[in-house]
Amino acid sequence: MELLLDTANIQEIKELYDCLVIDGVTTNPTILAKDNIKLENKVKEITAITTEHTPLHVQIISQDFQEIIKEALYIHSLRNNIYVKIPVTKDGLKAIKELKKLGVKVTATAIFTATQGFLAAKAGADYVAPYVNRIDNISGDGVAVVTQLTQILNQYHLPTKVLAASFKNVQQIYDIMKIGVHSITISSDMCKAMYQHPSTDVSILQFYRDWEEAFGITSLK
Ligand code: E4P
Repeated sequence: MELLLDTANIQEIKELYDCLVIDGVTTNPTILAKDNIKLENKVKEITAITTEHTPLHVQIISQDFQEIIKEALYIHSLRNNIYVKIPVTKDGLKAIKELKKLGVKVTATAIFTATQGFLAAKAGADYVAPYVNRIDNISGDGVAVVTQLTQILNQYHLPTKVLAASFKNVQQIYDIMKIGVHSITISSDMCKAMYQHPSTDVSILQFYRDWEEAFGITSLK
């Protein structure tokens, strides 16, 4: 399963790239709007602390077909291995179909149903991103949507990967991992919540104290 970071914060990316195996970075307009920095400079910053081979996902903001294509080609020109995120709408699906003919890598996003994801996959999207927590927030079942979508893509041997997104707790991540999803993207807070545990800290402290008490030193030799 691919693990991507859903952030454009340079410190967060650097910290987690240093200690974990991360398969890429996703952003959206809300995430990018947190820093007052031009998109091309932000892309350079992220590339500098990851690598130019690290997949980077950047979203368009237009909703009209022609404008989506223009923005997508601009994003595509910024760097190698960049995925243009396009929300699944009528114009979005048309744009995905067109962009695939032009060799642009596409992540279909803002997906709330398995049928949206299926149509985006048929249009040629490389990834489809269902929003788990946002689905849960409208009394839907985010895990069920990801499960259905993953099954449908596998069943029809579509090469598109499911990139589950929008998580607000580790249980959602755990439930998604169990179904064998292709990839997930999570915030740095969720990433840390996956490895931090108070009982681990308590255990480490106890080991340390026992050693110090027995040998009177705070290192192994
Ligand atoms: C990823 O593609 C989405 O932009 C992101 O995961 C949305 O997450 P949010 O619901 O936490 O904003």
